[in-house]
Amino acid sequence: MRINFGAADLKRKGAIAVFVAADETLLATSEKLNKATGGAINRAIAHNRFSGGAGQTLMLNAPHGVAASRILLIGVGKGEDFDASAAQSAGGGACALLANDSAALLCADPVPGSKLSAAEIAANAGYGALLRSYRFDKYRTTEKKDDKPALRSLTVGVRDVAKAKRVYAPMEKVANGVFFTRDLVSEPANVIFPESFVRRARALAKLGIKLQVLDQTQMKKLGMGALLGVAQGSANAPRILAMRWDGAPQAKDKRPIAFVGKGVTFDTGGISIKPAGGMEDMKWDMGGAGVVAGLMHALAARKAKVNAVGVVGLVENMPSGTAQRPGDVVTTMSGQTIEVINTDAEGRLVLADAMWWCQEKFKPHTMIDLATLTGAIIISLGHHHAGLFSNDDDLSLQLAESGRQTGEPVWRLPLGSDYDKQVKSQIADMKNVGGRDAGSITAAQILQRFVKDGVKWAHLDIAGVTWSNSDKPTAPRGGTGFGVRLLDRLVADHYEEG
Ligand code: BES
Ligand code: MN
Ligand code: ZN
Repeated sequence: MRINFGAADLKRKGAIAVFVAADETLLATSEKLNKATGGAINRAIAHNRFSGGAGQTLMLNAPHGVAASRILLIGVGKGEDFDASAAQSAGGGACALLANDSAALLCADPVPGSKLSAAEIAANAGYGALLRSYRFDKYRTTEKKDDKPALRSLTVGVRDVAKAKRVYAPMEKVANGVFFTRDLVSEPANVIFPESFVRRARALAKLGIKLQVLDQTQMKKLGMGALLGVAQGSANAPRILAMRWDGAPQAKDKRPIAFVGKGVTFDTGGISIKPAGGMEDMKWDMGGAGVVAGLMHALAARKAKVNAVGVVGLVENMPSGTAQRPGDVVTTMSGQTIEVINTDAEGRLVLADAMWWCQEKFKPHTMIDLATLTGAIIISLGHHHAGLFSNDDDLSLQLAESGRQTGEPVWRLPLGSDYDKQVKSQIADMKNVGGRDAGSITAAQILQRFVKDGVKWAHLDIAGVTWSNSDKPTAPRGGTGFGVRLLDRLVADHYEEG
């Protein structure tokens, strides 16, 4: 969908969306339209459970006295709570409810009490609408026209158009990164497998990103026995892909910040095979890799002044005559050995080698990995927070704050040597599972063994937030792209030069 910014022309046809604040407080445009319609807005509010609370909406159809087809009231709540995230939700909610109109105007009035300027409100509302307008419909060949959204462009009404556009420009670039991720995550596993993931990521080259690919032979030479063990059951060969964005060539410290993603393009569980019910979800077990690619897209598109590298470990976890067996012992690139008790605990095996190679090759000062790593994190946190594990308190606080600001919240869980007992092996340096107790923590504890001394590290377990079965204000159901906006914010606030 196209987002335009322009003057709020209330005489226009099509739908008009306007803000109403808490306690039925009409704002500039809702007040004007209320007058023009002979008080229809006040009457509608009086007869409905709508008071202007955040998230509330009310539609007035074919109102008398104006040319507009409909007036949509959007509750924005209390002014002091109306932040960027709330403005995005307001825009996203409007987008969803106006999908049937062919033209729509969203009047982004200043909200008294809010810290946001009128231009910031407009830009964020437009951003939210854009994020919500995403659709993955390339495989729907018989969908009727009436079932498709009619709305192609949304005009955000604002006084200072130039300023709103300026605030909006980088947001649109981040949204394109989010869409890059959502596309990757939504694709089925017969379309996105390691090689085709790499092919698609080559599009990043035209944004100025440098790509490097490792194939099986190179990985063998490097000694990546853990990643290769997962891959060995599949007809689709594995890959490691590195995406580099050197946006701060003059930086005093040229070391990059690194992002590492789990890219299991399909996770059957391997020989420790998963039950059939719901297994199709495991097409999005490459969500971490998808976020890393989308984040690099965003950073490069908005020319972030940062040296960043994204590394993704791409494999398919299949059962077959060549698959690894429970009990196999693999040697990682780091030299540490792992007894594979359960072939379904494959993400940590992939990340062990991807993270080690990333550190050897790029010498990052900070490394953040993202992975749909454990079902246990869904038991702990449900679908509202990603799990955060880290060896650094400052980095954790930064991530928590960026998460709050972007509406992609994270919640920190502990690490600690007490948990190491659970992954002791009789035969190797560790085993790959630690039993049911604290499943997400023991997984993180294993990852931490592949973090080099002096590297600040955080692990985001995104198993609960990568996919949503219900619509969210700024994301339709499906792949969410959770992590792109969070990490883009983290970089913008803490890792950019000047
Ligand atoms: N990809 C799964 C984790 C997952 C589960 C992601 C549900 C999204 C939704 C991971 O590879 C896995 O299978 N983990 C096992 C680990 C267990 C065998 C220790 C799990 O969580 O059950
Ligand atoms: Mn698994
Ligand atoms: Zn997995």
